[in-house]
Amino acid sequence: MSGELSPIDKAKFVAAKRAAEMVEDGMRVGLGTGSTAAWLVRCLGEMVREDGLKISCVPTSLRTAQLSREVGLTVISLEEAKWLDLTIDGADEFDSELNLIKGGGGALLQEKIVASASDQMVVIADTAKEVSRLGAFPLPIEVIPFGLSTSRALVEELLISMDVMGRAVSLRMDGAAPYITDEGNHILDLHLTRIGNPRQLSLALNQIPGVVENGLFIDICDTVVVGYGDGRVEVRDINEGTIETDRIDFVETDNLFTDLGD
Ligand code: A5P
Repeated sequence: MSGELSPIDKAKFVAAKRAAEMVEDGMRVGLGTGSTAAWLVRCLGEMVREDGLKISCVPTSLRTAQLSREVGLTVISLEEAKWLDLTIDGADEFDSELNLIKGGGGALLQEKIVASASDQMVVIADTAKEVSRLGAFPLPIEVIPFGLSTSRALVEELLISMDVMGRAVSLRMDGAAPYITDEGNHILDLHLTRIGNPRQLSLALNQIPGVVENGLFIDICDTVVVGYGDGRVEVRDINEGTIETDRIDFVETDNLFTDLGD
């Protein structure tokens, strides 16, 4: 399959591969959702099968759980794990303080719970996800079906007083029907263009009845592994203030590069 992956996919792969090296024997690991996280799951599956790595994994969505089982990972619930050593997940945007927008794949609720139950959260991303200000990517919020229109109206009213550039709100669809999350809720996407104060917005959104959670991850992530299409990776740790650079050999093995389905 050599040469079939786009530079973005290669960047996602090398970020995931480098982050997988942070996983050690005996760890309880939270597994994110999305195309970058799917590479991580594949890499960890290979390490379990070929190197005998022993880990327990808590997936953040039904599709990550399914892929994890397919590649041979031991899947446990967060109730069983109680606390995790490390969560590795993708992101839709990250800024220099490692504030994130997540939820493009609709899994933000489980992702935030799992990341918050971890000693460390590492984000894996291609360089296109890095922004100077969050907000170009629509901010997802998870809303319960009961009173959806009322919650939406309250969100729209709130946005008038927030430091944001755009204020359009759309209900995420899955074909002709509203999208339904793994928790049976809906997603409203907020088209804000620029978020002036992510912390204030996150707190205010979560005050609205019917809003279960929003896709802003503030002070949750410590480290980002940024991948590039030529195999370079940077590991940036904001607590230590360090940037490590590395290069991952890109060898498209049969096991890792079969259909990902995500
Ligand atoms: C899933 O709900 C999201 O939070 C994903 O982590 C995010 O959308 C990144 O996805 P990709 O890795 O597919 O870009």
